[in-house]
Amino acid sequence: MPAFKITDTLPLPNSSVRIPRLGFGVYRSPTNQCVQSCLKALDAGYRHIDTAQFYANEAEVGEALRTSGVPREEVFVTTKILSPAASIEATYDKLLASVHKIGGEDGYVDLFLIHSSSSGSAGRKLLWQALEKLHAEGKAKSIGVSNFGVGHIEEMRSYAQVFPPHVNQIEVSNLAFNLFLFEFAIFVHDSDFVFSQLHPWSQQRVIDEYCQSNGIIVEAYSPIVRNYKANDPTLVEVAKKNGHSTQQVLIRYALQKGWVPLPKTDDPERIASNADVFGFDLSVEDMAVLDSLDQGSAGAIVEAVENE
Ligand SMILES: NC(=O)c1ccc[n+]([C@@H]2O[C@H](COP(=O)([O-])OP(=O)(O)OC[C@H]3O[C@@H](n4cnc5c(N)ncnc54)[C@H](OP(=O)(O)O)[C@@H]3O)[C@@H](O)[C@H]2O)c1
Repeated sequence: MPAFKITDTLPLPNSSVRIPRLGFGVYRSPTNQCVQSCLKALDAGYRHIDTAQFYANEAEVGEALRTSGVPREEVFVTTKILSPAASIEATYDKLLASVHKIGGEDGYVDLFLIHSSSSGSAGRKLLWQALEKLHAEGKAKSIGVSNFGVGHIEEMRSYAQVFPPHVNQIEVSNLAFNLFLFEFAIFVHDSDFVFSQLHPWSQQRVIDEYCQSNGIIVEAYSPIVRNYKANDPTLVEVAKKNGHSTQQVLIRYALQKGWVPLPKTDDPERIASNADVFGFDLSVEDMAVLDSLDQGSAGAIVEAVENE
C-alpha cells in the first residue's frame, strides 16, 4: 500500500505550520505561461508552489492564486531573496515587495528563503534578521534557507531568534548536479566561478543527515535533474520494473527519502504525470539501487554545498 497521499504534509520545526510533501517549481516558467501552469498544477492537486525573486514570476504566481478558486490558506507558497540591501530595514522592504506581489497589500507567504549562502557572513545575518521581522509580523509563516551547508546553518546559532531555519532547499537527488551555482555564476557573468563550481553527481548526504537530525525540512530542487538522466540505464530499469516513467521514479524516490521534491514543468500533461506518484512504492531494493548511483564527493571539484 503506497505510504503517501498528495495532500500529505510535514511539520516544520518549532512551528505549527505544515508543508505539503510535493511542490511545484516555477523557475524558468515565463511570465506569459506561469499563470496557466500554476492553475494547471492547482487543478492537478498540487498545493505548494515554489517561486523566487530571481525567477521574476512572483506576480504571476499571485495572479494564479487569486484566480484559481482554491482558498488561499489551502496553498503553500514559497519565495526567496538572493541578496541583502544595505540595512535590515531596506532588506525587509525587498521582502515586503515580494509579499505584496504574491498576496497583495494584506497578504503573506508561507515560506521565505534566503536563496543562497553567497552573501557572506554579514549578508546572511542581515537577510535572516530581516526575515525574522517579516516572520514576527506574520507576513511569512515560516522562514528558511537554500543552498546552505552545515557551517552556514551552525553560524546562525549566534544571532538567530528563529532557529533552526524551518527548511533548507538544496539539490538533493540520487543524481545531483550543482545547477544553481552554475546558473548563478552565469547570472553574475563570472566565468572562473562557473568552472570552479561545476559539480558531478552527489546526494549531499552530510547536509541531508544534519537537516534530518535537526528537524529541518529538506526540499529537493531539480528533483528530476532537468531530465538530463532520463536515459540512465539503471534508472530506466527501475522505471520499467515499476511501470512508471523515469521522472515519476525520481520524484517518488525523493518523497521516500523524506525530501520535499519541487518538480518544474510548463507542459500540462507533465504537470499531471509528475504529480501521479502516489499510487506506487519503490521497494527497499529499488531505493538501494538508486542510492547506489551516488558518487559522493569523489571526483568532485567542490561539494554542492560547503559544509565547513
Ligand atoms: N533554491 C535553488 O537554488 C533552486 C535551484 C534550482 C531550482 N529550484 C526550484 O526547484 C524547481 C525544480 O528545479 P528545476 O526546474 O531546476 O529542475 P527539474 O524540476 O528537475 O526539471 C525541470 C525540467 O525538466 C523538464 N521536465 C519536467 N517534467 C518532465 C517530464 N515529466 N518529462 C520530461 N521532461 C520534464 C522541464 O521541461 P518543461 O517545462 O519543458 O516540461 C524542465 O526543463 C525550480 O522550478 C525551482 O522552483 C531551486
